[in-house]
Amino acid sequence: MRTLMTADLTGAERSGIRRLLDLSFDGDFGDEDWDHALGGVHFLIAEDGVPVAHASVVQRRFLFEGRSWRCGYVEAVAVHPDRQRRGLGVAVMAAAERVIDGGYQLGALSTSDAGRALYVARGWTPWPGTTAVLAPSGVTRTEEDDDATFVREVPGGAPLHRAGTLICDWRDGDVW
Ligand SMILES: CC(C)(COP(=O)(O)OP(=O)(O)OC[C@H]1O[C@@H](n2cnc3c(N)ncnc32)[C@H](O)[C@@H]1OP(=O)(O)O)[C@@H](O)C(=O)NCCC(=O)NCCS
Repeated sequence: MRTLMTADLTGAERSGIRRLLDLSFDGDFGDEDWDHALGGVHFLIAEDGVPVAHASVVQRRFLFEGRSWRCGYVEAVAVHPDRQRRGLGVAVMAAAERVIDGGYQLGALSTSDAGRALYVARGWTPWPGTTAVLAPSGVTRTEEDDDATFVREVPGGAPLHRAGTLICDWRDGDVW
């Protein structure tokens, strides 16, 4: 398991991770999804130089209860189809959670159907409130993302047990 900033990835590692994501998400991982996974910290497991498990944490700003909070957002969690159910997903998530707990005021992610069991098993909580985005036109509800949004409360951080509306910052592509 290696922890690397995006700037530390070699060109081969970047393209290897992108290939892993295309494979694990069965072609349903686009350029904007890839863009969302860059600029923070990567957790990478490789076999013979080939990435087989990956997750990244990027910083976002979330509005909640009238304050802006520093959020560690988990992106691009994937394990090679031939290596699943062996604990690699747990390994990259444990590393991501350490970074979130030590450096951010909350953790958040948007789960796929395949990822839901993993996050629940690790104590992530489905967001019980509503979600929205701070779009260029103003705060806009994102109803379709309510069910997939998971959060992780960090001691001394955002009081997520109070629920309410969680508002993410704007970006191209899927905002959650
Ligand atoms: C989700 C994913 C990363 C899990 O990786 P993994 O290496 O298989 O996960 P692990 O082996 O570490 O599983 C850890 C635990 O999570 C739970 N879990 C993981 N996948 C599960 C599943 N499909 N059904 C039920 N429980 C599951 C179990 O508690 C499991 O422990 P167990 O195997 O002892 O029962 C992997 O399935 C994947 O890459 N899927 C495609 C891409 C994707 O959807 N990524 C998530 C984006 S949000």
